[in-house]
Amino acid sequence: MEGKVLVVDDDSYVIESCGKVLVPEGFLVRAVTDGHEAMEIFFCDTYDVVFINYEKIHNDGSNLVRWLHRKYPDTCVVAVVDTNHEFVKTEGILDYLTKPFSLEILLQTTKRAFYLSKQFAPSIKKEIKTAQYVDKLGELAIIVNKYKGKPAMLLEVLRQAQALIGYLPEEVQKIISKGLKIPVSEIHSVVSFYPSFTMKPRGRHHIKVCMGPACIAKKAETLLKNLTAGLNLQDSDITEDMRFSYEKVFCVGACSDAPVMEIDDDSHTRVEVDKVDEILKAYN
Ligand code: FES
Repeated sequence: MEGKVLVVDDDSYVIESCGKVLVPEGFLVRAVTDGHEAMEIFFCDTYDVVFINYEKIHNDGSNLVRWLHRKYPDTCVVAVVDTNHEFVKTEGILDYLTKPFSLEILLQTTKRAFYLSKQFAPSIKKEIKTAQYVDKLGELAIIVNKYKGKPAMLLEVLRQAQALIGYLPEEVQKIISKGLKIPVSEIHSVVSFYPSFTMKPRGRHHIKVCMGPACIAKKAETLLKNLTAGLNLQDSDITEDMRFSYEKVFCVGACSDAPVMEIDDDSHTRVEVDKVDEILKAYN
């Protein structure tokens, strides 16, 4: 048996679809139409994934969502919604299933939800901050699932994870660790070793300011000061709108053309330190 799914909905299309596609895949599926009934079921037995039409079921579905979130944080709640529903992430809802849906989408959503319920410890869930981030973790689950138990594919998974999320924070490394069955310490070493991987979020444009001796001699410190002041960066190395991030680097091998600043793949040499703003204007 793959896992247990509870459907809380009075729509026969949803109930029948779940029975048709999930049962042959090995899921145990149970359906109820009432929020209270769902709670009573949870007192006797827990479920990995709950599909809730929370706006339409009897006895207030939103109460049920909040109750599950509080009492059973490892259960993944998927809201079943109509096409024109506004996708605002509500506390306790980790994913949405929009009607009408194909059986393939239903299966894909269930597998992703099941994976989330198993892989995410409650502590990781607490770190989820934005709806966009939740969506990306869902997509990450699909990537990891594709390479499940294949440690040799680590670099490829890291590359795809970074392309998806933008960086590789600790919780992402833990998810990959569980999926590929590689110790998280090993993943951390690989991420730290390759300069192309980063554990910090980056802006759309990433700036490297060379602080090697030749650049320092050509006013690199003033360049850096003007850059951070121009971008209004005090305690952070990324702008609020995520347009720019920066880091200091040590010698990029163009000492004779110091001071040097790299933006994405562009190298800016002999930078006039009071004209940094002009250079940034070209990057939107
Ligand atoms: S010190 Fe800056 S390029 Fe070498």
